[in-house]
Amino acid sequence: MAIASGGAAAPVTSKLQVSAGEIIVDNVSKSYGTGIFEKKVVKGCSFTIERNKLTVMIGPSGCGKSTLIKLLAGFEKPTTGNILLNGKPVTGPGRDRLVVFQESALFPWMTTYDNIMYGPIARGEADQKARDLAEFLLDKVGLRDFRSKYPTQLSGGMQRRAELARAMINNPEVMILDEPFRGLDAMSKELMWEYYSALFEESHRTNFFVTTDIDEALFLADRLIIMSNIPTRVRATIEVNIPRPRKLADFFTSERANEVKMTALSLLHEEAMKSFSGGSKAAADFVDSYARRSEQKA
Ligand SMILES: Nc1ncnc2c1ncn2[C@@H]1O[C@H](COP(=O)(O)OP(=O)(O)OP(=O)(O)O)[C@@H](O)[C@H]1O
Ligand SMILES: [Mg+2]
Repeated sequence: MAIASGGAAAPVTSKLQVSAGEIIVDNVSKSYGTGIFEKKVVKGCSFTIERNKLTVMIGPSGCGKSTLIKLLAGFEKPTTGNILLNGKPVTGPGRDRLVVFQESALFPWMTTYDNIMYGPIARGEADQKARDLAEFLLDKVGLRDFRSKYPTQLSGGMQRRAELARAMINNPEVMILDEPFRGLDAMSKELMWEYYSALFEESHRTNFFVTTDIDEALFLADRLIIMSNIPTRVRATIEVNIPRPRKLADFFTSERANEVKMTALSLLHEEAMKSFSGGSKAAADFVDSYARRSEQKA
């Protein structure tokens, strides 16, 4: 199947300037504590977050995904191995990488518009170009009518959309998202996937998205990285090869989506079983729901 996504230059009409970065994770390990207290969280992990692509990482709960994000963001340093951004070692946090966490961090005392404009204002760059971009993003995330509302007046999904816009306005080379839609109800989540993919398709900025939700991973990914149980490493990498723009209405009925989903579920099930034998409640839940899914199919 032809690959329509990724690698393509940004549309010239896009208001979102693109200066997309590439991250290489080279044999990275991370442990906390020393001696008998040492906890190995990441072990010998290597992968590439390709320029202009949406790379999604999925792995069992507690395997070390957020730890990897802290390393990519430069909040923490690997115990061994290297992380390179555009060929240069990551030595700390930088404006070139922007992390969106699960917990919404909108400022409650600011309106939607002011929250979106926060980055340019804080940098003293709130010029006409930034204001135009804020207007454009308000439309893109469907919040024009809510521009003067405060976060408590927005639904959970609206808050996440405002947060996406607030991140995008800073024009990072790489957007890093750690389960940003966790906790939303199923319908709000699906709406978020559509808004978020449209934003990605607008810019083809490099994006790295972490999730534990297989449908979310599949719908969003150009490249899917499946992680092992803790200490985590790459278990498999799948090029999804489903063209964009993607529409929820027919996406999950496609043969390719089903094929990738089955492969990913089977690998995740193996990893969850390992963690289950180690006593994880989340893994037990996963194994249980996997068994129910198999029963439904039979
Ligand atoms: N600063 C730290 N000190 C000690 N252990 C830590 C630290 N940060 C994370 N860990 C441990 O690393 C393991 C992996 O945690 P992490 O948050 O990276 O997992 P995760 O895959 O993001 O999980 P989830 O899917 O639940 O978000 C956990 O056992 C956690 O307790
Ligand atoms: Mg996490």
